[in-house]
Amino acid sequence: MSDAPLLVARDEGIVTLTVNRPKALNALNRAVLEALRAEVATLAADRAVRAVILTGAGEKSFVAGADIAVMSEMGPREALDFAELGHATLDALSALPMPVIAAVNGFCLGGGCELSLACDLVYAADNAKFGQPEVKLGLIPGFGGTQRLARRVGPMRAADLVLSGRMIGADEAKAIGLCVEVFPRGELMGQVVERARTIAAMGPVAVRAAKAVQARGVEAPLATANAFEREAFAGLFATHDAKEGMGAFLARRDAAFEDR
Ligand code: CAA
Repeated sequence: MSDAPLLVARDEGIVTLTVNRPKALNALNRAVLEALRAEVATLAADRAVRAVILTGAGEKSFVAGADIAVMSEMGPREALDFAELGHATLDALSALPMPVIAAVNGFCLGGGCELSLACDLVYAADNAKFGQPEVKLGLIPGFGGTQRLARRVGPMRAADLVLSGRMIGADEAKAIGLCVEVFPRGELMGQVVERARTIAAMGPVAVRAAKAVQARGVEAPLATANAFEREAFAGLFATHDAKEGMGAFLARRDAAFEDR
């Protein structure tokens, strides 16, 4: 097994990134964040990648947070640098043009929960535990958790987790919208790959447009966001893939998308 902080595997158009510090439950240190940021920059420029899966090495943990041993040595200046690296990495991940899917295979705490919040889709194993336990350490979330969590699950549910530091199981995470679906541990990766393949088989220009419009729209007033949608919808009518997709439907055959 490689000791690189991030493992990268590619299967046709699907790239799987695995945070690889299983002995520390995949806690995020600078090496992991820098490797992730560099890989995300490469993926951003790769039009052949249709979906990215993010998971953690080992049997116990997705990511159990930022590295507490490293943080315990920091003063405010170093902590700000660390938070800026975390934010820049998660912002870049979230801004990838293709969908990013978290396969949460165990502890998903603190910076790990924040990592899942930067993904478009989150699927969890039945042993997963989610939480923002920073207050137990005398801290608050530092990689976007006070903001992205409220946007995903609503402000009061976010406050419940951030203020109490409590951990929740996969079923509760699903009930509040922190993950879409829960699978038995042994089935998680197979199920996630199947979903990634389903997305990869759709019209790639449309998939990228749907992600981009949703992301831009969340930050805008509804009328402005709906205008983003109309423009993107209309723009797709100039693409080969929309003609092909609609033509294939009418001819009762499978579409052959060409990403143009
Ligand atoms: N940072 C550094 N090391 C960690 C870690 C973390 N976040 N989480 C676990 N580890 C290490 C442990 O220190 C331990 O190392 P050693 O074997 O060398 O002692 C190893 O991983 C295994 O952990 P445990 O023995 O504790 O395993 P457990 O099954 O008994 O407990 C756990 C698992 C409940 C996840 C527990 O490890 C835990 O509470 N971890 C910390 C979770 C946390 O507080 N995360 C938030 C961090 S702060 C943050 O993320 C800030 C931010 O927003 C940027």
